Amino acid sequence: MTDDWNNYADGWDDNSDVRRYASLAFTTLDEYLDIRGKDWQSKCVLDFGCGTGLLAEKIAPHVEEVVAVDTSENMIAVLKAKNLPNVRAVHGNILAGDVREVENGFSGFDLICASSVCAFLLDYSGAVAVLAGLLNKGGLFIQWDWQASDDDGFGLTTHQMKTALETARLGSIRVERVFEINSDAQTMPVLMGAGIRNKE
Ligand SMILES: C[S@@+](CC[C@H](N)C(=O)[O-])C[C@H]1O[C@@H](n2cnc3c(N)ncnc32)[C@H](O)[C@@H]1O
Repeated sequence: MTDDWNNYADGWDDNSDVRRYASLAFTTLDEYLDIRGKDWQSKCVLDFGCGTGLLAEKIAPHVEEVVAVDTSENMIAVLKAKNLPNVRAVHGNILAGDVREVENGFSGFDLICASSVCAFLLDYSGAVAVLAGLLNKGGLFIQWDWQASDDDGFGLTTHQMKTALETARLGSIRVERVFEINSDAQTMPVLMGAGIRNKE
């Protein structure tokens, strides 16, 4: 899944389900980390697969900077047009190392968020390992994804999430169903997965 997302960029923010997902992700993030508290004001956050920045724009007022990365040029263009003061919108594939900031040694994030991204990746487990390596020691990786009913279903299972977080050597792992989106007479559960880079 790469450039196909370009086709969704224009109407993305008009989709009430997408806005609700981002809003509920932010609520769970705040419940978990107290992201609106003063401890976060000097922290640097990576929003991986940021899309048009629906989550980034909620986090940004409470932290030093949000680096928002996406492989879709059109999604990044929509985000850039918002001119959010402390959001740096970056187009590129951070996993393949073709983002200039990463080539220059860019890392050191206190928090990495991935909202509805990981289930679309070809190598989810490998991606979490790369992202975990961009965290500061003690930094947190957090993701939200549709919950799959089994290993072959769309989304991720609790087991798949736990395994990927463990494989990335993250600690204090938490995986749980945090909210549901009701759309077209369907109820779709969302899993949150989180883990902390050890201070070793
Ligand atoms: C379902 S959208 C979610 C967008 C946004 N996080 C939100 O919640 O509105 C998935 C996004 O992941 C992006 N994406 C897919 N693969 C990616 C990758 N390897 N690196 C960065 N972004 C990626 C897509 O371009 C798309 O914008």
